Amino acid sequence: MSDYFNPKYPDVADLKRHAKKRIPKFAFDYLEGGCMEEISLRRNRTQVEGVQLRSELLKPFSGSDLTVDLFGHKYAAPFGIAPVGLQGLMWPKSPEILAKAAAEKNIPYILSTVSSSSLERIAQVSEGKAWFQLYNPTDDVIRQDLLNRITAAQYQVLVVTVDVPTFGFRPRDIKNGLAMPPKMTLKNILQMLSCPHWSLATALAGTPEMETLKPYMPKGMPTDELAAFMNKTVMGRVDIEGLKPIRDTWKGPLVIKGLINETDVKAAIKLGADAVIMSNHGGRQLDAGESPIETLQGVTQKYGSQIKIFMDSGLRSGSNIAGALASGADFTFLGRPFVYGVGALGDNGGLHTINSLVLQLTQIMNQLGCSKVSDLHQHLVK
Ligand SMILES: Cc1cc2nc3c(=O)[nH]c(=O)nc-3n(C[C@H](O)[C@H](O)[C@H](O)COP(=O)(O)O)c2cc1C
Repeated sequence: MSDYFNPKYPDVADLKRHAKKRIPKFAFDYLEGGCMEEISLRRNRTQVEGVQLRSELLKPFSGSDLTVDLFGHKYAAPFGIAPVGLQGLMWPKSPEILAKAAAEKNIPYILSTVSSSSLERIAQVSEGKAWFQLYNPTDDVIRQDLLNRITAAQYQVLVVTVDVPTFGFRPRDIKNGLAMPPKMTLKNILQMLSCPHWSLATALAGTPEMETLKPYMPKGMPTDELAAFMNKTVMGRVDIEGLKPIRDTWKGPLVIKGLINETDVKAAIKLGADAVIMSNHGGRQLDAGESPIETLQGVTQKYGSQIKIFMDSGLRSGSNIAGALASGADFTFLGRPFVYGVGALGDNGGLHTINSLVLQLTQIMNQLGCSKVSDLHQHLVK
Protein backbone atom coordinates (compact mmCIF):
# COMPACT_ATOMS: atom_id res chain seq x y z
CA MET A 1 0.00 0.00 0.00
CA SER A 2 2.80 2.34 0.90
CA ASP A 3 4.06 2.08 -2.70
CA TYR A 4 0.65 2.98 -4.18
CA PHE A 5 1.04 4.48 -7.65
CA ASN A 6 -1.78 4.81 -10.15
CA PRO A 7 -0.35 4.79 -13.70
CA LYS A 8 -3.39 6.72 -15.00
CA TYR A 9 -2.05 9.85 -13.27
CA PRO A 10 1.74 9.85 -13.65
CA ASP A 11 2.16 13.59 -13.25
CA VAL A 12 0.69 16.52 -11.35
CA ALA A 13 -1.13 17.89 -14.40
CA ASP A 14 -3.05 14.58 -14.68
CA LEU A 15 -4.02 14.79 -11.00
CA LYS A 16 -5.11 18.41 -11.38
CA ARG A 17 -7.31 17.61 -14.39
CA HIS A 18 -9.04 14.76 -12.55
CA ALA A 19 -9.36 16.71 -9.27
CA LYS A 20 -11.00 19.60 -11.10
CA LYS A 21 -13.81 17.29 -12.18
CA ARG A 22 -14.38 15.98 -8.64
CA ILE A 23 -14.19 19.17 -6.56
CA PRO A 24 -16.96 21.82 -6.62
CA LYS A 25 -15.86 24.91 -8.54
CA PHE A 26 -15.88 27.31 -5.54
CA ALA A 27 -13.50 24.98 -3.65
CA PHE A 28 -11.27 24.24 -6.65
CA ASP A 29 -11.03 27.98 -7.38
CA TYR A 30 -9.92 28.59 -3.79
CA LEU A 31 -7.15 26.00 -4.23
CA GLU A 32 -6.08 27.04 -7.68
CA GLY A 33 -6.37 30.81 -7.59
CA GLY A 34 -3.76 33.49 -7.17
CA CYS A 35 -4.16 37.16 -6.33
CA MET A 36 -5.40 39.91 -8.64
CA GLU A 37 -4.47 39.14 -12.28
CA GLU A 38 -2.62 35.96 -11.24
CA ILE A 39 0.62 37.23 -12.78
CA SER A 40 2.79 35.94 -9.94
CA LEU A 41 0.99 32.59 -10.06
CA ARG A 42 1.98 32.22 -13.73
CA ARG A 43 5.42 33.72 -13.13
CA ASN A 44 6.20 31.04 -10.54
CA ARG A 45 5.71 28.45 -13.24
CA THR A 46 7.60 30.18 -16.06
CA GLN A 47 10.59 30.91 -13.81
CA VAL A 48 10.71 27.34 -12.49
CA GLU A 49 10.41 26.03 -16.05
CA GLY A 50 13.39 28.18 -17.03
CA VAL A 51 15.83 26.28 -14.81
CA GLN A 52 18.15 24.06 -16.85
CA LEU A 53 20.21 21.13 -15.62
CA ARG A 54 23.25 19.41 -17.10
CA SER A 55 24.02 15.65 -17.10
CA GLU A 56 27.42 14.07 -16.54
CA LEU A 57 27.09 10.81 -18.41
CA LEU A 58 30.61 9.40 -18.60
CA LYS A 59 31.48 9.71 -14.93
CA PRO A 60 31.28 6.47 -12.86
CA PHE A 61 27.92 6.44 -11.07
CA SER A 62 26.29 3.92 -8.74
CA GLY A 63 22.84 5.35 -8.02
CA SER A 64 21.26 8.28 -6.22
CA ASP A 65 20.39 8.87 -2.58
CA LEU A 66 17.40 11.17 -2.03
CA THR A 67 17.70 11.43 1.75
CA VAL A 68 18.29 14.74 3.52
CA ASP A 69 19.19 15.45 7.16
CA LEU A 70 17.16 18.26 8.72
CA PHE A 71 17.01 19.23 12.37
CA GLY A 72 18.50 15.90 13.44
CA HIS A 73 16.11 13.76 11.33
CA LYS A 74 16.91 11.90 8.10
CA TYR A 75 14.02 12.49 5.65
CA ALA A 76 13.47 10.05 2.76
CA ALA A 77 13.23 12.76 0.10
CA PRO A 78 14.09 16.48 -0.27
CA PHE A 79 10.49 17.69 -0.42
CA GLY A 80 7.56 18.08 1.95
CA ILE A 81 3.91 19.09 2.04
CA ALA A 82 3.37 22.86 2.47
CA PRO A 83 0.64 24.17 4.78
CA VAL A 84 -2.69 24.66 3.01
CA GLY A 85 -5.58 26.18 4.94
CA LEU A 86 -9.18 24.93 4.67
CA GLN A 87 -7.94 21.68 3.12
CA GLY A 88 -11.09 19.85 4.18
CA LEU A 89 -13.08 22.15 1.93
CA MET A 90 -11.25 20.85 -1.16
CA TRP A 91 -11.47 17.23 -0.03
CA PRO A 92 -12.86 15.92 3.28
CA LYS A 93 -10.22 14.73 5.72
CA SER A 94 -7.38 15.70 3.38
CA PRO A 95 -5.15 16.87 6.28
CA GLU A 96 -5.44 13.41 7.84
CA ILE A 97 -4.83 11.66 4.50
CA LEU A 98 -1.76 13.77 3.73
CA ALA A 99 -0.29 13.78 7.24
CA LYS A 100 -0.59 10.01 7.41
CA ALA A 101 0.97 9.50 3.96
CA ALA A 102 3.82 11.90 4.80
CA ALA A 103 4.56 10.07 8.06
CA GLU A 104 4.50 6.73 6.26
CA LYS A 105 6.84 7.94 3.52
CA ASN A 106 9.04 9.86 5.98
CA ILE A 107 8.65 13.37 4.56
CA PRO A 108 7.46 16.46 6.47
CA TYR A 109 3.80 17.51 6.48
CA ILE A 110 3.12 21.07 7.70
CA LEU A 111 -0.27 21.60 9.32
CA SER A 112 -1.81 25.05 8.77
CA THR A 113 -3.21 27.09 11.68
CA VAL A 114 -6.40 27.43 9.64
CA SER A 115 -6.68 23.74 8.89
CA SER A 116 -9.91 21.82 9.01
CA SER A 117 -8.28 19.25 11.34
CA SER A 118 -7.18 19.97 14.88
CA LEU A 119 -3.49 20.06 15.68
CA GLU A 120 -4.02 17.32 18.27
CA ARG A 121 -5.65 15.01 15.70
CA ILE A 122 -2.83 15.53 13.18
CA ALA A 123 -0.17 14.93 15.85
CA GLN A 124 -1.89 11.61 16.47
CA VAL A 125 -2.23 10.43 12.84
CA SER A 126 1.29 11.57 11.95
CA GLU A 127 2.73 9.90 15.07
CA GLY A 128 4.25 13.19 16.17
CA LYS A 129 6.12 13.72 12.89
CA ALA A 130 4.15 16.68 11.49
CA TRP A 131 5.35 20.28 11.63
CA PHE A 132 3.04 23.13 12.69
CA GLN A 133 2.54 26.39 10.77
CA LEU A 134 1.56 29.39 12.88
CA TYR A 135 -0.20 32.54 11.78
CA ASN A 136 0.92 34.65 14.69
CA PRO A 137 -2.17 35.56 16.74
CA THR A 138 -2.50 39.23 17.67
CA ASP A 139 -3.87 38.12 21.04
CA ASP A 140 -1.01 37.11 23.39
CA VAL A 141 -3.24 34.69 25.29
CA ILE A 142 -4.25 32.82 22.12
CA ARG A 143 -0.61 32.72 20.95
CA GLN A 144 0.58 31.28 24.26
CA ASP A 145 -2.25 28.76 24.31
CA LEU A 146 -1.43 27.60 20.77
CA LEU A 147 2.26 27.28 21.64
CA ASN A 148 1.33 25.27 24.75
CA ARG A 149 -0.89 22.98 22.66
CA ILE A 150 1.83 22.49 20.02
CA THR A 151 4.35 21.61 22.73
CA ALA A 152 1.92 19.27 24.50
CA ALA A 153 1.14 17.53 21.19
CA GLN A 154 4.92 17.13 20.69
CA TYR A 155 5.33 18.95 17.39
CA GLN A 156 9.04 19.10 16.61
CA VAL A 157 9.24 22.04 14.18
CA LEU A 158 7.41 25.39 14.22
CA VAL A 159 6.91 27.34 10.98
CA VAL A 160 5.78 30.97 11.32
CA THR A 161 4.27 32.50 8.19
CA VAL A 162 4.96 36.19 7.72
CA ASP A 163 3.81 36.91 4.17
CA VAL A 164 0.16 37.60 4.93
CA PRO A 165 0.33 41.15 6.36
CA THR A 166 -3.01 41.71 4.65
CA PHE A 167 -5.50 39.23 3.28
CA GLY A 168 -4.73 38.47 -0.41
CA PHE A 169 -7.11 40.05 -2.96
CA ARG A 170 -8.32 36.99 -4.85
CA PRO A 171 -10.97 37.71 -7.45
CA ARG A 172 -12.05 34.07 -7.82
CA ASP A 173 -12.93 33.82 -4.11
CA ILE A 174 -14.61 37.22 -4.09
CA LYS A 175 -16.83 36.22 -7.02
CA ASN A 176 -17.64 32.86 -5.43
CA GLY A 177 -18.43 34.42 -2.03
CA LEU A 178 -16.06 31.86 -0.50
CA ALA A 179 -16.86 30.99 3.11
CA MET A 180 -16.05 28.21 5.57
CA PRO A 181 -18.29 26.25 5.82
CA PRO A 182 -19.49 26.93 2.25
CA LYS A 183 -22.64 29.01 1.88
CA MET A 184 -25.70 27.08 0.74
CA THR A 185 -26.47 29.32 -2.23
CA LEU A 186 -28.22 27.83 -5.25
CA LYS A 187 -24.99 28.20 -7.27
CA ASN A 188 -22.94 26.34 -4.65
CA ILE A 189 -25.55 23.62 -4.20
CA LEU A 190 -25.56 22.98 -7.95
CA GLN A 191 -21.76 22.81 -7.96
CA MET A 192 -21.83 20.32 -5.08
CA LEU A 193 -24.44 18.17 -6.81
CA SER A 194 -22.24 17.94 -9.88
CA CYS A 195 -19.50 16.39 -7.68
CA PRO A 196 -21.15 13.31 -6.08
CA HIS A 197 -17.91 11.79 -4.67
CA TRP A 198 -17.08 15.04 -2.90
CA SER A 199 -20.66 15.46 -1.65
CA LEU A 200 -20.84 11.94 -0.26
CA ALA A 201 -17.40 12.17 1.38
CA THR A 202 -18.36 15.57 2.87
CA ALA A 203 -21.67 14.23 4.15
CA LEU A 204 -19.82 11.36 5.86
CA ALA A 205 -17.04 13.55 7.28
CA GLY A 206 -19.29 16.43 8.42
CA THR A 207 -19.11 20.11 7.58
CA PRO A 208 -15.49 21.33 7.51
CA GLU A 209 -14.59 23.79 10.26
CA MET A 210 -11.37 25.35 11.53
CA GLU A 211 -10.81 22.77 14.22
CA THR A 212 -7.56 24.12 15.68
CA LEU A 213 -9.00 27.63 16.11
CA LYS A 214 -12.48 26.57 17.22
CA PRO A 215 -11.77 26.98 20.95
CA TYR A 216 -11.05 30.69 20.36
CA MET A 217 -14.12 31.46 18.26
CA PRO A 218 -17.24 32.95 19.82
CA LYS A 219 -19.93 30.24 19.99
CA GLY A 220 -22.52 30.40 17.20
CA MET A 221 -20.55 33.00 15.25
CA PRO A 222 -22.28 33.59 11.87
CA THR A 223 -20.29 32.46 8.81
CA ASP A 224 -20.10 35.95 7.36
CA GLU A 225 -18.26 37.16 10.48
CA LEU A 226 -15.55 34.52 10.12
CA ALA A 227 -13.30 36.52 7.79
CA ALA A 228 -13.38 39.53 10.15
CA PHE A 229 -12.61 37.24 13.11
CA MET A 230 -9.68 35.69 11.24
CA ASN A 231 -8.28 39.06 10.23
CA LYS A 232 -8.54 40.39 13.75
CA THR A 233 -7.33 37.30 15.60
CA VAL A 234 -4.77 35.33 13.64
CA MET A 235 -3.84 37.04 10.40
CA GLY A 236 -1.95 40.27 10.09
CA ARG A 237 1.48 41.80 9.98
CA VAL A 238 4.27 40.00 11.87
CA ASP A 239 7.39 42.11 12.17
CA ILE A 240 10.66 41.17 13.80
CA GLU A 241 9.46 42.41 17.21
CA GLY A 242 6.42 40.13 16.90
CA LEU A 243 8.72 37.16 16.21
CA LYS A 244 10.97 37.70 19.21
CA PRO A 245 8.55 36.35 21.86
CA ILE A 246 8.00 33.26 19.72
CA ARG A 247 11.75 32.68 19.38
CA ASP A 248 12.12 33.12 23.15
CA THR A 249 9.31 30.69 23.96
CA TRP A 250 9.76 28.01 21.30
CA LYS A 251 12.91 26.00 21.99
CA GLY A 252 12.69 23.69 18.95
CA PRO A 253 13.63 24.44 15.34
CA LEU A 254 11.97 27.66 14.12
CA VAL A 255 11.31 28.23 10.41
CA ILE A 256 10.20 31.60 9.00
CA LYS A 257 7.99 31.14 5.93
CA GLY A 258 7.26 33.60 3.15
CA LEU A 259 10.53 35.48 2.65
CA ILE A 260 11.73 36.46 -0.79
CA ASN A 261 14.67 38.86 -0.39
CA GLU A 262 18.08 39.19 1.30
CA THR A 263 17.01 41.87 3.78
CA ASP A 264 14.38 39.66 5.39
CA VAL A 265 16.62 36.57 5.36
CA LYS A 266 19.30 38.60 7.16
CA ALA A 267 16.71 39.63 9.78
CA ALA A 268 15.64 35.99 10.23
CA ILE A 269 19.28 35.01 10.86
CA LYS A 270 19.61 37.80 13.44
CA LEU A 271 16.45 36.58 15.14
CA GLY A 272 18.03 33.14 15.57
CA ALA A 273 15.69 31.28 13.21
CA ASP A 274 16.90 27.86 12.09
CA ALA A 275 15.55 28.01 8.54
CA VAL A 276 13.55 30.14 6.14
CA ILE A 277 11.13 29.09 3.43
CA MET A 278 11.61 31.30 0.38
CA SER A 279 8.04 31.57 -0.88
CA ASN A 280 5.52 33.96 -2.38
CA HIS A 281 2.64 31.95 -0.91
CA GLY A 282 2.08 30.26 -4.27
CA GLY A 283 1.32 33.60 -5.98
CA ARG A 284 -1.55 34.42 -3.63
CA GLN A 285 -0.36 37.67 -2.02
CA LEU A 286 1.68 40.10 -4.19
CA ASP A 287 0.89 40.04 -7.87
CA ALA A 288 3.87 42.19 -8.87
CA GLY A 289 6.30 40.21 -6.72
CA GLU A 290 9.35 38.16 -7.57
CA SER A 291 9.24 34.39 -7.67
CA PRO A 292 11.36 32.67 -5.02
CA ILE A 293 13.28 30.67 -7.63
CA GLU A 294 14.55 34.03 -9.00
CA THR A 295 16.00 35.25 -5.69
CA LEU A 296 17.03 31.86 -4.33
CA GLN A 297 20.51 31.62 -5.85
CA GLY A 298 21.63 35.06 -4.66
CA VAL A 299 20.30 34.47 -1.15
CA THR A 300 21.79 30.99 -0.79
CA GLN A 301 25.18 32.12 -2.08
CA LYS A 302 25.25 34.85 0.56
CA TYR A 303 23.51 33.25 3.55
CA GLY A 304 23.39 29.51 2.85
CA SER A 305 26.18 28.82 5.35
CA GLN A 306 24.36 30.66 8.15
CA ILE A 307 20.81 29.30 7.90
CA LYS A 308 18.92 26.48 6.16
CA ILE A 309 17.12 27.76 3.08
CA PHE A 310 14.00 26.00 1.80
CA MET A 311 11.80 26.96 -1.15
CA ASP A 312 8.24 26.58 -2.39
CA SER A 313 5.92 28.11 -5.04
CA GLY A 314 5.42 26.72 -8.52
CA LEU A 315 7.06 23.28 -8.16
CA ARG A 316 5.10 20.58 -9.97
CA SER A 317 7.51 17.73 -10.76
CA GLY A 318 10.65 15.88 -9.75
CA SER A 319 12.53 17.92 -12.29
CA ASN A 320 11.24 21.20 -10.78
CA ILE A 321 12.31 19.97 -7.33
CA ALA A 322 15.78 19.10 -8.69
CA GLY A 323 15.93 22.58 -10.27
CA ALA A 324 15.15 24.31 -6.96
CA LEU A 325 17.71 22.20 -5.10
CA ALA A 326 20.30 22.85 -7.83
CA SER A 327 19.56 26.58 -7.45
CA GLY A 328 20.64 26.38 -3.80
CA ALA A 329 17.63 25.24 -1.73
CA ASP A 330 18.36 22.77 1.07
CA PHE A 331 14.81 21.46 0.86
CA THR A 332 11.58 22.12 -1.03
CA PHE A 333 7.84 22.18 -0.37
CA LEU A 334 4.81 21.86 -2.64
CA GLY A 335 1.30 23.05 -1.83
CA ARG A 336 -1.36 22.56 -4.50
CA PRO A 337 0.01 19.29 -6.03
CA PHE A 338 -0.79 17.26 -2.91
CA VAL A 339 -4.32 18.61 -2.70
CA TYR A 340 -4.82 17.79 -6.40
CA GLY A 341 -3.66 14.28 -5.50
CA VAL A 342 -6.24 13.85 -2.75
CA GLY A 343 -8.96 15.51 -4.86
CA ALA A 344 -8.23 13.06 -7.68
CA LEU A 345 -7.64 9.86 -5.73
CA GLY A 346 -9.15 10.36 -2.26
CA ASP A 347 -7.49 8.25 0.45
CA ASN A 348 -4.76 7.07 -1.94
CA GLY A 349 -3.92 10.58 -3.17
CA GLY A 350 -1.21 11.37 -0.60
CA LEU A 351 0.80 8.21 -1.16
CA HIS A 352 0.36 8.37 -4.93
CA THR A 353 1.58 11.99 -5.19
CA ILE A 354 4.58 11.40 -2.94
CA ASN A 355 5.51 8.20 -4.78
CA SER A 356 5.22 9.75 -8.22
CA LEU A 357 7.43 12.70 -7.21
CA VAL A 358 9.99 10.29 -5.74
CA LEU A 359 9.99 8.25 -8.97
CA GLN A 360 10.42 11.42 -11.05
CA LEU A 361 13.20 12.82 -8.87
CA THR A 362 15.03 9.50 -8.82
CA GLN A 363 14.91 9.36 -12.63
CA ILE A 364 16.23 12.95 -12.90
CA MET A 365 19.09 12.35 -10.48
CA ASN A 366 20.05 9.13 -12.26
CA GLN A 367 19.90 10.93 -15.61
CA LEU A 368 22.08 13.76 -14.29
CA GLY A 369 24.56 11.34 -12.74
CA CYS A 370 24.01 12.99 -9.36
CA SER A 371 24.45 10.68 -6.38
CA LYS A 372 23.28 12.97 -3.59
CA VAL A 373 20.95 15.94 -3.09
CA SER A 374 23.70 18.26 -1.89
CA ASP A 375 25.55 17.72 -5.21
CA LEU A 376 22.64 18.90 -7.39
CA HIS A 377 24.05 22.44 -7.58
CA GLN A 378 26.92 21.04 -9.68
CA HIS A 379 24.37 20.27 -12.39
CA LEU A 380 22.86 23.77 -12.69
CA VAL A 381 23.10 25.41 -16.11
CA LYS A 382 20.97 28.43 -15.19
C1 LIG B 1 -5.35 26.98 -1.08
C2 LIG B 1 -4.09 27.40 -0.39
C3 LIG B 1 -4.12 27.66 0.97
C4 LIG B 1 -2.93 28.02 1.62
N1 LIG B 1 -2.95 28.19 2.98
C5 LIG B 1 -1.80 28.48 3.64
C6 LIG B 1 -1.78 28.55 5.05
O1 LIG B 1 -2.79 28.35 5.72
N2 LIG B 1 -0.58 28.87 5.63
C7 LIG B 1 0.56 29.08 4.93
O2 LIG B 1 1.61 29.36 5.50
N3 LIG B 1 0.56 28.97 3.58
C8 LIG B 1 -0.57 28.67 2.93
N4 LIG B 1 -0.56 28.52 1.57
C9 LIG B 1 0.70 28.65 0.84
C10 LIG B 1 1.42 27.28 0.74
O3 LIG B 1 1.90 26.89 1.99
C11 LIG B 1 2.62 27.33 -0.22
O4 LIG B 1 3.44 28.41 0.12
C12 LIG B 1 2.19 27.42 -1.68
O5 LIG B 1 1.05 26.65 -1.93
C13 LIG B 1 3.33 26.95 -2.58
O6 LIG B 1 3.00 27.08 -3.91
P1 LIG B 1 2.45 25.87 -4.84
O7 LIG B 1 1.02 25.69 -4.48
O8 LIG B 1 2.65 26.43 -6.20
O9 LIG B 1 3.29 24.67 -4.53
C14 LIG B 1 -1.73 28.16 0.90
C15 LIG B 1 -1.71 27.89 -0.48
C16 LIG B 1 -2.87 27.49 -1.12
C17 LIG B 1 -2.82 27.17 -2.58
